[in-house]
Amino acid sequence: MGEAKRVEHQLTDKGYVPVYTTAVIEQPWETYTPTDHEVWKTLFHRQREILPKRACREFLEAQDAMGMGAEQIPKFSELNEVLKATTGWTLIGVEGLLPELDFFDHLANRRFPVTWWIRKPEQLDYLSEPDLFHDLFGHVPLLMNPVFADYMEAYGRGGVKAHGFGEHALAALTRLYWYTVEFGLIQGEDGLRIYGAGILSSKGESIHCLESDAPNRIGFDLERIMRTRYRIDTYQKTYFVIEDFEQLFEATRPDFAPIYARLADAESIPAGTVLDGDRVFNRGTGEGWLKDGDV
Ligand code: PHE
Ligand code: FE
Repeated sequence: MGEAKRVEHQLTDKGYVPVYTTAVIEQPWETYTPTDHEVWKTLFHRQREILPKRACREFLEAQDAMGMGAEQIPKFSELNEVLKATTGWTLIGVEGLLPELDFFDHLANRRFPVTWWIRKPEQLDYLSEPDLFHDLFGHVPLLMNPVFADYMEAYGRGGVKAHGFGEHALAALTRLYWYTVEFGLIQGEDGLRIYGAGILSSKGESIHCLESDAPNRIGFDLERIMRTRYRIDTYQKTYFVIEDFEQLFEATRPDFAPIYARLADAESIPAGTVLDGDRVFNRGTGEGWLKDGDV
């Protein structure tokens, strides 16, 4: 897997320094083993069995519309034909997580980086880094939705811009991504549903986030989210609920510069805290929450 790691040299005020970057690579589709295809198939069926009535309609319909099926690992080139024609997005293959600025730049240009390799059969339930199943199954279908597609591009542009504002601005944007694109819930006409990719690619969390009394479910609030910490190693203590993708897009349309200025002095909020001003859908019981780590 190390093959695609590339070392480049960048001129900084310390002279030329090596920068490890992850190259964009063509999906090596021919190298997938029967086991790889089997893992895709198993996970695909497993999720599609539980996601009707849990995932938002937009996600399920888009996944079908783009021809993403269980039989074998999809070819990016084939999905790209539909995606390009629908919202102008392109999937690009990558080895793994990208340097932040590269990632933002791809999104700003409507390119979505997808990890080309898939987890092993013994990792069906949990993996600490994104793989093909998470990226492709979880993230890609909603890129077919015009409003969500625009939000992702705007997020990428916002990320490039945030680089000029320093670490606190980047932290705020990362939290926004975490609580929307990765772990967002949506309260539509047919009830509370999932749209976050981190949930959609996990069987356990797909059930937990909607049916468990343990986590908080709170109405979307941009600045509140930007101050809220999160942990990456357990189910979320708090989920934020949007009404529709327009709400997300509209709330993030204004210039964030004044928000970043305010956030520079604001305290962060622990992941499980409920505040007075929160619109509470469910106040979590906190059952099973770990007390250590980043609360
Ligand atoms: N409006 C934001 C800004 O001015 C950009 C942005 C859009 C950020 C959507 C995140 C999501 O920086
Ligand atoms: Fe992700």
